[in-house]
Amino acid sequence: MKFSDQLEKRFTDLLTHYPIKRSALIPMLLYAQDEVGCVSDEVVHEIADRLDLTDLEVRNVVSYYSMLHTKPIGKYNLQVCTNISCMLRGAENIFDHLRKRLGIGHKQDTPDGLFHLEEVECIGACCWGPALQVNYDFHENLTTERVDEILDRYRSRQ
Ligand code: FES
Repeated sequence: MKFSDQLEKRFTDLLTHYPIKRSALIPMLLYAQDEVGCVSDEVVHEIADRLDLTDLEVRNVVSYYSMLHTKPIGKYNLQVCTNISCMLRGAENIFDHLRKRLGIGHKQDTPDGLFHLEEVECIGACCWGPALQVNYDFHENLTTERVDEILDRYRSRQ
């Protein structure tokens, strides 16, 4: 499998940051996903090969992390935390609002391919719930009004 020169450089650099190769697994998967669009079978195999892991070991990691996906999804991945801290501060209302605004459910994409919606476990922003992660950006202390502004912001970025 061929990655871009820029990604190859990033991988080479990453491997210098850890005493053992397998520690680079998650960042390598994220960077590969950014370039390829998902963690395809080819990506799994290629990264396993580079880190002296089995495909199964890589797949086990991919299936655990909600930021990694094996099929292409909408450009902006809206991940709403509905765990306890966020739930107590209205996360279910936020998720419902997004479902209605976008006309899609859990793990679905909008027809234009712009948004993917997911209900996820804790994203580490418990003190500022309800919280939403969009790709690598965090949005906290959400209200339905703030969610509408956030959607508008991403729509205008297209
Ligand atoms: S419970 Fe929502 S970020 Fe931790």
